[in-house]
Amino acid sequence: MPLDQNDITLRLENVSKSFGGIKAVNGVSLTVRRGSITGLIGPNGSGKSTLFNIISGVERKFSGNVVFDGKRLNGLAPHKIFDLGLGRTFQTPRLFTGMTVLENAMVGAKNQRGESPLRAPFPKDWEPQEMEVAKKTQDQLKVLEIAQLYDKPPSEISGGQMKLLQLANVLAGDPKMLLLDEPTAGVAPRLAQDIFLSIEKQCKEKGTTFFIIEHRLQVLFKHVQKVYVMHEGRIISEGAPSEIVKHREVIDAYLGA
Ligand SMILES: Nc1ncnc2c1ncn2[C@@H]1O[C@H](COP(=O)(O)OP(=O)(O)OP(=O)(O)O)[C@@H](O)[C@H]1O
Ligand SMILES: [Mg+2]
Repeated sequence: MPLDQNDITLRLENVSKSFGGIKAVNGVSLTVRRGSITGLIGPNGSGKSTLFNIISGVERKFSGNVVFDGKRLNGLAPHKIFDLGLGRTFQTPRLFTGMTVLENAMVGAKNQRGESPLRAPFPKDWEPQEMEVAKKTQDQLKVLEIAQLYDKPPSEISGGQMKLLQLANVLAGDPKMLLLDEPTAGVAPRLAQDIFLSIEKQCKEKGTTFFIIEHRLQVLFKHVQKVYVMHEGRIISEGAPSEIVKHREVIDAYLGA
């Protein structure tokens, strides 16, 4: 049965992007269902991160259309897209070096009253909200097992912990949809499972939609309803994990079996 417009959070229509002679993304059309966890897999260099850069406004020169919640995002800056409720993490974490772990995680929370120039001089106005955000963020850090690092600068934590911190940061913003670029890269296998459980919890409790690039297929496949497979800039296959693993072209291009 075709999806109703209201069931779709993200729609890509014939999206293409070349770097010199390389067609990094080549005519990609896809939809991500509201409230779902959808995976994006494919070999190295198949165009996955470029596609996320296009959706999130990091890469603004491309052809085709990106439609989020019924709005065309083409040409919008990343912060405008974030304000519309579409957040992302990067394959290589981007963190604020002059802030502690807790402060970094809290930066993602939107509409904090203390940030308004009119309210900043009146701490009574924003302190309760800031305390609430700090408490929520601490809880999030506990789930991701990095709460004990709250007062450390990012330079003193591991690469895996940076990935977790970046995830805590975007979750604090309570976005409608999140694009996660390899959320478990560099973290211990047991924690990879916990990250996906925390993603699932966020999805169930808040209705957040997730679109996730992941190389750890065993973990990913346990938690997604649908997977898109990219190869040389194109979507070569789509379906439930149980169907995907049977597709010959997927096995040839990616699973290598
Ligand atoms: N800014 C850029 N300038 C030039 N070429 C680029 C740029 N970004 C990506 N590419 C090229 O586009 C292609 C797709 O790269 P992309 O990073 O999107 O792949 P990926 O699927 O995310 O790979 P990986 O799994 O290794 O992260 C590659 O050939 C890459 O070298
Ligand atoms: Mg990538």
